[in-house]
Amino acid sequence: MKKKIFFVICFLVIIFIGFSIYFILDSKKENNKIMDNKLDELQKEKIKANFNFETKTVKLNSGYEMPLNGLGTYSLTGDTCYNAVSSALKSGVRLIDTAYMYENEAEIGKAIRDSQIPREDIFVITKIYPSQFDEPEKAIEMALEKLDIDYIDMMLLHHPGDGDVKAYKAMEQYVKKGKIRSIGLSNWYIEELEEFLPQVNITPALVQNEIHPYYQENDVIPYIQNLGIVVQGWYPFGGRGHTSELLNDSTITAIAKDHNVSAAQVILRWNLQKGVVVIPGSSNPNHIKENTDIYDFKLTDEEMKKMNSLNRDEKHDWY
Ligand SMILES: NC(=O)c1ccc[n+]([C@@H]2O[C@H](COP(=O)([O-])OP(=O)(O)OC[C@H]3O[C@@H](n4cnc5c(N)ncnc54)[C@H](OP(=O)(O)O)[C@@H]3O)[C@@H](O)[C@H]2O)c1
Repeated sequence: MKKKIFFVICFLVIIFIGFSIYFILDSKKENNKIMDNKLDELQKEKIKANFNFETKTVKLNSGYEMPLNGLGTYSLTGDTCYNAVSSALKSGVRLIDTAYMYENEAEIGKAIRDSQIPREDIFVITKIYPSQFDEPEKAIEMALEKLDIDYIDMMLLHHPGDGDVKAYKAMEQYVKKGKIRSIGLSNWYIEELEEFLPQVNITPALVQNEIHPYYQENDVIPYIQNLGIVVQGWYPFGGRGHTSELLNDSTITAIAKDHNVSAAQVILRWNLQKGVVVIPGSSNPNHIKENTDIYDFKLTDEEMKKMNSLNRDEKHDWY
């Protein structure tokens, strides 16, 4: 009988010790999770803190400052492009986004030179296309020649593709030569970044991806930001063919009404408050001006939540 009681007590003690160890380890795990989340928040704050709303610039990991808002030039060519860029520069825009594929680098370079604005005050992003990855040096030289503005502030690989590591390494060499100041990627998501980053020497300064209220990339943005890389969004208004739906969205127009601003301004401001740089496209001088007036109002946490609830994971382009 005594033996039986002894075994029962031993059994209960073992169970008790087992549970205690389990609870201690579990609470440690929970604490670690809380710590990780706190660190994530701190890191995000750090990235957002790099957004200087006074100077309207962000400090890149390359050490250079980049404006928080710019002009996108996709589908603008010839005189339309020259006039849009000239108008943007007159409105105080100092960031211009172009690409080999947009076939407008020459017009952009000319508008910049004609503006008489000191070169150092303007930040130009261009991109090389996967079809150019075979001969990246040729592609970079071509961009430098077409733009003809002495150096390129930021060059991106337009999409992942065969030879992208080789092309990126060529851009790294041009950084050493001082002909490109910062380099980055476009249309790279978590999986692509995980595979790509260990193969290159210079951490990208920027990743440019599709981001708008209907396609928010809420997992990708913090992932990129936590790497110390600035995120820039393309198609902020959903891209041509989708802008009317976004700019007339009742949630967005209601917020706009409360702040006495336009729906476009609300979308741009929402991006900035998420730590995302904006490059809306426009050839309309009034829109271009309007798209720069996004620093005199602030969305509340509640409004940010409402904007975030609009996400539909609805991508408007294939890449
Ligand atoms: N890396 C990539 O793969 C990639 C892909 C696509 C685009 N991008 C870049 O991202 C930029 C932005 O994208 P996007 O230009 O195609 O599309 P978007 O900025 O989403 O929308 C441009 C459209 O919005 C209109 N718009 C602009 N401001 C407005 C305002 N204040 N009120 C009402 N309408 C306004 C423009 O018309 P108006 O001309 O009449 O103002 C134009 O039709 C591109 O220009 C390009 O530089 C990059």
